Amino acid sequence: MKAEETTDTHTHVVIFPCPVQGHVSTMLKLAQLLSLHRFHITFITTDCIHHRLHRFGDIQALLQTHPTLQFKTFPDGLPHNHPRSGESLVDLFHSINLHAKPHIKHIVLSAKPTLTCFIGDGVFGALTVDVANEVSIPIIHFRTISASCFWTYFCVPKLFQSNQLPIRGDEDMDRVITCIPGMENVFRCRDLPSFCRGTESDIVFPMNSMAFETRETLRARALILNTFEDLEGSVLSQIRLHFPRVFTIGPLHAQLNSRQDSNPETTPSTNCVWEVDRSCVTWLDSQPLKSVIYVSFGSIATVTREKLLEIWYGLVKSKKRFLWVVRHDMDGGDRVPAELEEGTKERGFIVGWAPQEEVLAHKAVGGFLTHSGWNSTLESLAAGVPMICWPAFGDQHVNSRFVSEVCKVGLDMKDVACDRDIVERMVNDLMGHRREEFLNSAEALALLANQSVSPAGSSYSHLDHLMHYIKSLGQ
Ligand code: UDX
Repeated sequence: MKAEETTDTHTHVVIFPCPVQGHVSTMLKLAQLLSLHRFHITFITTDCIHHRLHRFGDIQALLQTHPTLQFKTFPDGLPHNHPRSGESLVDLFHSINLHAKPHIKHIVLSAKPTLTCFIGDGVFGALTVDVANEVSIPIIHFRTISASCFWTYFCVPKLFQSNQLPIRGDEDMDRVITCIPGMENVFRCRDLPSFCRGTESDIVFPMNSMAFETRETLRARALILNTFEDLEGSVLSQIRLHFPRVFTIGPLHAQLNSRQDSNPETTPSTNCVWEVDRSCVTWLDSQPLKSVIYVSFGSIATVTREKLLEIWYGLVKSKKRFLWVVRHDMDGGDRVPAELEEGTKERGFIVGWAPQEEVLAHKAVGGFLTHSGWNSTLESLAAGVPMICWPAFGDQHVNSRFVSEVCKVGLDMKDVACDRDIVERMVNDLMGHRREEFLNSAEALALLANQSVSPAGSSYSHLDHLMHYIKSLGQ
């Protein structure tokens, strides 16, 4: 289907992501894609995120190139100086669940033209379904996690019923989980979402737990996932037994690039809530082909000074070139050992926030030491860059296993002591001894990822189907 066939100035979609970088930037990409087809979009976010998007994310350019897109905001209920990252993120979830409903309802009820549907972040499964039902508009859930992780969250109650959970201490961590349909024998206990390291009463029953919120998607009309059929086909067919309408439209950043390239009126804009330091691209320009390992732990995970130093020593001792994102909210401390300063001057570059998609696609980058957030994983897969996975929490444990065992495009550093010798060895394996093996599988997957968002690909046609489906909801 051609773009103009889906062009529609009457369809109006409200989109509400969880107000953190990895969710906002992904759902904003969906907003851009829909508005490329002239859908009206009201994008709801918090005052805090909106302020940061204005400051760092080039919103003016976005609004100029997407005239049918508008932002509406509300206060997240937290004090101005709250960190809204790391462990304190839990406060943000509580606050949104507690305070957001009347604000969202007000925005939705006063929206013009009349709303066709609500695309809500499934991480707030109950909240978004309740809002939609109370104002009588159809609800579609969007999840920023992988299909494999969504499915694992969904299966958690079943894992308790079949005695595969709870995990019985450290000595139980390597036990293989046999009863996740479509992913039998893939995960060990240690690869399950990090919240599975608790008890059934912590995990399954409480309102707003991940297991609870995921099952709320059963009340939504459809589910959108940022993945593609060739990557997660077997799990997707299991998900479709419970959720008949699933649209797989990823990798979203590649889909947006692909559709923007064919639309000369649009220019790319950044969706960052951190200040991007582009000096690293100039540095990369002067490095040899695939010689640099890029290191970044996403927008939320925090790293203690002790671990930061171990990683730093490991990178310097590996003698490989490295580009490292150390966010300003991570404590690097003032006193840096001289040998680290020296090693970084010789072969490294450190920034507070990088233009990651561009960095991963740069010809000088040959590996990625990542926390295995799903966006980072997809961006790396689409760029054909092998990974060392050092997951911190949540879905990242599942993603690191998926990357290493299912895709075979990297190494899993999960639950391994964060020690300089281990970092050095893994970097040398990825960038040295096992480089060809990983690069070959990464390049094959990158080809599939990019085919999926080209006009004959599955994600491209799923987005067309999604747009048709949304339009049908307004008739
Ligand atoms: C979190 C979860 O960890 C993730 O698994 C979930 O899917 C979304 O919410 P986050 O931890 O921030 O997200 O990781 P990730 O999903 O990888 O998203 C980070 C985003 O920030 C990526 O799109 C990445 O390109 C971007 N980024 C990161 C930059 O643009 N520059 C940087 O320097 C670092």
